[in-house]
Amino acid sequence: MAVRTRAPFVAGNWKMHLKLAEAAELARKIVEAGSGLQASTVVLIPPFTALATVGGAVAGSEVRLGAQDLYWEDQGAFTGEVSGPMLEDTGCSYVLVGHSERRQLFGETDETVARKARAALKAGLSPIVCVGEVLAERDGGRTLERIDDQLARGLGGFSREDMGRVVIAYEPVWAIGTGRTASPGQAEEVHAHIRRRLGESYGNEAASCAIILYGGSVKPANSYPLFQEKDIDGFLVGGASLDADGFVGIVREALRAYREEK
Ligand code: 13P
Repeated sequence: MAVRTRAPFVAGNWKMHLKLAEAAELARKIVEAGSGLQASTVVLIPPFTALATVGGAVAGSEVRLGAQDLYWEDQGAFTGEVSGPMLEDTGCSYVLVGHSERRQLFGETDETVARKARAALKAGLSPIVCVGEVLAERDGGRTLERIDDQLARGLGGFSREDMGRVVIAYEPVWAIGTGRTASPGQAEEVHAHIRRRLGESYGNEAASCAIILYGGSVKPANSYPLFQEKDIDGFLVGGASLDADGFVGIVREALRAYREEK
């Protein structure tokens, strides 16, 4: 079996949860419980209000900071928005773009996703671009078609070099917050498809280095078999990331599967 070179990448999307004291405590617990978990990338993605606090709590550790969204202009009269340079200034290395909740509840489109991903790269951030089908698309056999659309429009015009800094997260909308996870086989089918498409657009080397995360009801109990699939490089975790043991448990399970391949 070919040994994969992509080490586990696990990001916790805290969504609209936690006040400052709670956020600081969770970040501290994750740093403590996760210390020594080398060979993995761990990213905490709190709400904007807690970025500086969580940034302080993870400073000096291997844990990285990410934001949940950004606007594509650097500055200006855009009340309520936050820009890439502001996030970079707060210590972020990553930013989510096109999360399905943004698409479904806040009118995000593939076109705004492309603008935001480009703005993230320009600000020195790695965008974590989210794609995924809704249940009707899966049931109608249109999953891969939907993913193709999202990739083509959301990443349109990116260079090979840009792609080296883009992370893709496949999050089937029907699996988010529902307790219903995609089976390892269902997830792998889409991950392998995404990697194939990246190969066609950006070349085999870019495709084989690309980090493709799975998201949707990930827990310690289901993360090991998911990570065993060769194109699943880690996880974007929602609910379970609000518990330090659960979140670190997912990192451990991914690392266990990774090391067993070696
Ligand atoms: P859950 O893990 O709660 O299903 O959320 C997934 C998600 O949306 C992460 O971005």
